[in-house]
Amino acid sequence: MSKPVIVSGIQPTGNLHIGNYLGAVKNWVELQNSGKYDLYIFIADLHSLTGLQTAEERRNQIKVTAAELLAAGIDPKKTTFFVQSEVCEHTELGWIFNSLTPIAELERMTQYKDKSSRQQKNINAGLLTYPILQAADILLYRGQMVPIGQDQIQHLELTNDIGRWFNNRYGVYFGEVKPLLTKIPKVMSLLEPTKKMSKSLGAGNVIELADEPEAVEAKLKKAVTATEGGVGAPGVQNLLTLFKEFGPAKIHAKFSEDEKSGTIRYGDLKAALAEAISGTFADFRKKRAELLSDEKKLLKILEKGSDGAGKVAQKTMSEVKKLVGLR
Ligand code: TRP
Repeated sequence: MSKPVIVSGIQPTGNLHIGNYLGAVKNWVELQNSGKYDLYIFIADLHSLTGLQTAEERRNQIKVTAAELLAAGIDPKKTTFFVQSEVCEHTELGWIFNSLTPIAELERMTQYKDKSSRQQKNINAGLLTYPILQAADILLYRGQMVPIGQDQIQHLELTNDIGRWFNNRYGVYFGEVKPLLTKIPKVMSLLEPTKKMSKSLGAGNVIELADEPEAVEAKLKKAVTATEGGVGAPGVQNLLTLFKEFGPAKIHAKFSEDEKSGTIRYGDLKAALAEAISGTFADFRKKRAELLSDEKKLLKILEKGSDGAGKVAQKTMSEVKKLVGLR
């Protein structure tokens, strides 16, 4: 029996931060290590072209993201781990899907509306067709489950629509894809704790997995908490959520109690949290540095991954080409 296929990707737009980690990467590693799935994890560098990075930034960030995912536990022996642009079938299938998708369906995507309002000087067509490429990423491997955040659900629904439009027009080929929504804590920005943690808010808003202990400490020191007696303040809740993830349960319980009774000392919480986060990622930092110091080895790992992915992708494309009449 073949295992259910899981596909997921991440854009190489910045160093991994604890929001990405708790929201996606940690879950990928757990799915991988369960041994129950056939996992495809890739770096969505083609998707990143729709943003504003320079070529130099992109080239560098692809390597850094690869090293960070490996350091965080993605194991290329267990997971097909690769860079999207190295498997040209993504764009090829994407084009076929482009020709099946009504523009109006793309224009109603929330992420498109969001992004195009944020980068008004660069509302490129790729920003609009972004979810079509995402559908190709998934269906190319006949993906059955996609671990994603709530913000990507709409894209997954469109993936299923596209699969259906294809099947209706050319013959039943693609199956249904299901979201794999795990219970993940919502990680908020340190400085604007009503907004999701994101580097676009500024470096002081995020804790990167690669941050040295001193940096983690300094960022947490500046994190917004509450003014006097502000029980339940979002900044404090966020720090408690993080402590729950990274610190010992007993101490978390104590901090929570003290918060409710208004006796909590934010400085103590911040110091303990800094230690817990830095400790959690000590091994990550070491592995990341090792991987980045040997670029040849890193590229070899990625090449093996794209070879493996390519084989599956070629098979799908050859069948798709026959179905649509290109062969
Ligand atoms: N759009 C996803 C994000 O920004 C990244 C992505 C691209 C993806 N292709 C995918 C995720 C395919 C899951 C499956 O988070």
